[in-house]
Amino acid sequence: MGGVAVTTQAKLDAPRLRADFPIFEQQIHGKPLAYLDSAVSTHKPRQVLDKLRTFYETSYANVHRGVYTLSERATAEYEGAREKLARFINAPSAREVVFVRGATEGLNLVAYAWGLVNLGPGDLVVVTELEHHSNFVPWQYIAKRTGAELRMIPLDDSGELDLGELDSIPREGNVKVVANNLVSNALGTINPIEKLSAWAHAQGAIMVVDGAQAAPHRAIDVQALGCDFFAFSAHKMCGPTSVGALWGRRELLQSMEPFNLGGHMIRKVTFEETTWGEVPAKFEAGTQPIAEAVGFGAAVDYLNDVGVDAIEQHEHELAAYSLGKMAESPGITLYGPPADRRAGIVSFNLDEIHPHDVAQILDMEGVAIRAGHHCCQPLMAKLGVAATNRASFYLYTIPEEIDRLVEGLHKGTRAATGCSRTPTRRPTGRTRSAATRSRSSSPSARTATRSTR
Ligand SMILES: Cc1ncc(COP(=O)(O)O)c(C=O)c1O
Repeated sequence: MGGVAVTTQAKLDAPRLRADFPIFEQQIHGKPLAYLDSAVSTHKPRQVLDKLRTFYETSYANVHRGVYTLSERATAEYEGAREKLARFINAPSAREVVFVRGATEGLNLVAYAWGLVNLGPGDLVVVTELEHHSNFVPWQYIAKRTGAELRMIPLDDSGELDLGELDSIPREGNVKVVANNLVSNALGTINPIEKLSAWAHAQGAIMVVDGAQAAPHRAIDVQALGCDFFAFSAHKMCGPTSVGALWGRRELLQSMEPFNLGGHMIRKVTFEETTWGEVPAKFEAGTQPIAEAVGFGAAVDYLNDVGVDAIEQHEHELAAYSLGKMAESPGITLYGPPADRRAGIVSFNLDEIHPHDVAQILDMEGVAIRAGHHCCQPLMAKLGVAATNRASFYLYTIPEEIDRLVEGLHKGTRAATGCSRTPTRRPTGRTRSAATRSRSSSPSARTATRSTR
């Protein structure tokens, strides 16, 4: 074929997409809902809600059990969803995709089923200072149980991983696992998984990727990432709660012991012993979240229709817009890398006001954000705070909502004016808004100290 192929990415039309989401038909405190907490969970479009209802009304039965028509229909839908997920992350085979309750269960599955058998004294599990507790606590726990040790890849001053530290780690033991999120839920940092996968494999280690904040927002190719496991959750990508997926390399999944034991995951059970079924059945004990898995498939259809690249671009623009606006606003401390190296997540603190109070002030304006440690207490310790505020965006977010967020922050700042202020140190990943820096007589933000969830 002659000529240069030019692909034009259709721009996402967020105001139009909002009409798919019934939740936006309501008002909160008399104001339109500005939902800026999609990193914790996203809302559901009619297409997914309708699919759930239709499935229950026309095709529901337990799967892989009955030989009657309805069960076969339900099984076809359930397995069809698995195929859709496999295509969505470019898995070599749908049989390598295991339905789990969410990213947390997927990561626990790997930590228990792989880690308990393969880790021991002298071994190292390498995680990062950026991990969500779901990809930190299981490894810390399994390392302790097996006598292995945990090592941390540190953050640099912009809130990104400092890979310069990698060289020293193998001198301290056998690196067996590297576990990292592709996108940080707390700072929005996009992590260099391809590099880490190559490094992990050079050490003879497996690479485990927490994809909870990545799969909803950017195109995923597990083969290009070079990882061995990839976990993600439906509820963060327009799908139902209580279902997620774990992709794993077939030979690893085959070599692993099961995680949950019971019905469906067996080949043969006698009074003396049990043998396991094939992957993925081996990891799907008991009745699965069947309708939710089917709804997950519908969510993936929806994201494909919108266009995952367009979603990524839209969120990137929103992140740049909000960082720009906040940088012009006085009294804001921003955390994390510049817009071109982060996803649609903006963490910040406001001088003098505890994050929970900021979130409450904003709620009165109809603006929903998250305030807390974001299940990243080690990261909060590194940042020198107990909590931050976090605004996170999705395909239905519009710039006007960010304007309302920033206006709400101004209100909060005006309300706090006159309070005494205490200077603080400036740890990793922090930048003061330009407007704050330019007020040279103004002391900096107080570190939040109130206990927080
Ligand atoms: C980066 C990251 N990993 C894991 C999880 C856990 O996801 P789930 O609660 O759906 O299991 C979250 C949830 O916020 C997350 O942001």
